[in-house]
Amino acid sequence: MIKSAVKSSNAGKVLKKVLAPYRNLVVVGGNWGDEGKGKIIDLVMEHYNVTVRFSGGANAGHTVFVDGPDASVGVNKKLVSHLVPCGLAQNKACVMGRGELVDLRLFIEELEQSKKILGHKLAPVWLDQMSPVWTPWHGLLEAWLEYARGKGKVGTTGKGIGPLEGLYKLRIVPLVGHIFLDRKKFIEILELLHKTLLPIFKEMKAKNLITGTIPSSAEVADMLRSYAAKVKPFVADTSFVLYEALEKHQRMLFEGAQALGLDSRFGTYPFVSSGNSAAFGAAEGTGLPMQSFDATLMVVKTLPTRVGAGPFPSEMWDRQNAMEFVKKNIELFTDKKIKANFLNQRLEKINAGKASNAELSQYFQVLGDERGATTGRGRSVGFIDIPWLLYAIRINGPKWLALTRFDMLSSVKTIPVVVGYRLNGKLLAPGQLPPPWDMEKVKPVFENWPGWQENIYGVESEKKLPQAARNFLSRLEKHLKTHILLVGTGPGRQDIIVRL
Ligand code: IMP
Repeated sequence: MIKSAVKSSNAGKVLKKVLAPYRNLVVVGGNWGDEGKGKIIDLVMEHYNVTVRFSGGANAGHTVFVDGPDASVGVNKKLVSHLVPCGLAQNKACVMGRGELVDLRLFIEELEQSKKILGHKLAPVWLDQMSPVWTPWHGLLEAWLEYARGKGKVGTTGKGIGPLEGLYKLRIVPLVGHIFLDRKKFIEILELLHKTLLPIFKEMKAKNLITGTIPSSAEVADMLRSYAAKVKPFVADTSFVLYEALEKHQRMLFEGAQALGLDSRFGTYPFVSSGNSAAFGAAEGTGLPMQSFDATLMVVKTLPTRVGAGPFPSEMWDRQNAMEFVKKNIELFTDKKIKANFLNQRLEKINAGKASNAELSQYFQVLGDERGATTGRGRSVGFIDIPWLLYAIRINGPKWLALTRFDMLSSVKTIPVVVGYRLNGKLLAPGQLPPPWDMEKVKPVFENWPGWQENIYGVESEKKLPQAARNFLSRLEKHLKTHILLVGTGPGRQDIIVRL
């Protein structure tokens, strides 16, 4: 029996009754990623036995804070998981469904790291025998695609996600189970991929885009086979593992990666990731029948953010500038005193109605420490965007919303909210979204909603919120026609309100 590393939170206990009827719960992001899914998953996890990833790969980064081996001296440890479901932090059985893309070296590293941080034997982890496997060639192809797109580049995370998913559909990528075949057979499998990509690699070499040597099929085979012994104990047909769990009435939590805006089919193509980030991906990426899923919880960031390129209708400031702002002003993010001074002064200017949108964006970027967990890039911030959320609700069909980082609105006198999209002078119907090539032309329609003076950081119950904050939530809920079950008020496990 593994000792639990995580203390139950009050909010977690309150949720027991709410979640009881929903044995299999899907949690997805509703914006463009970085909504704080990790924290929400961590919160609801205690009511589930198994946690499952179904899409994406090492491009995802879920951060949870756990009471590590030093908990006795009050040290909370940060566990960032890229591949393994974040349920590992709570000793839940972890399944990496077939829809997940796997970097084997990272998988091994992540398990070793988790063992060190958690300080005890890990719960069972299952990796699908037919999940696509990363090779160095995928990294090279990604570099080529971004280069070839020139100005129109996607701004990917560099984890080979597009090439892996795309070449999988072309039926030429290696799968996890292939590494256990005999060496000759495995090299043969890799050879088709190598042959297909070689002309591109030669072109890259000619353009000095590749400086080292291009690994041969035998070299890639040997590299991947060198992980075989460590990986073997975790490999299974996860669709069968999940089927058995279903038969045994286990409660399962399906952890989405990325978010609707990055879904390859219903996001802002081609400025998307390559997997299924929408709730329907839980079926495709696991092999469980559609009716196995009982409810979806969609996590929404109060002020949405985006990294990389692509449409972002409610964005406050020019993307490139917003992304570079962090690099150029790193002390605002790392020096507590400089940060506090900046925030105070900027808030005064905002409340005096004298701040530009760029200055507003900078305020929220610094306040929210908007830097990516996987890439460290600055994130561009947008206003609350009701038309986008209505679209995300239409596709994901959530039973509830979790609204994270609500505390960021504290002390802002008036809060601009996007309540409609106008395209070519015409107001779009709720839930309607133009194709991505027209989204640049969308003119957001704003309303100014009253804010509140109090700082609500760390508030744990709705009763303790100022009336104006409560009114704000009800007004938002009315527009979205979906219950906001959870409201985040800070990064800690306890900083959450459950609204029954
Ligand atoms: P890829 O997933 O690396 O191919 O990147 C495609 C797009 O998705 C880029 O704009 C990335 O910045 C974005 N993206 C991928 N994963 C995440 C994530 O976990 N959070 C936020 N953006 C992401």
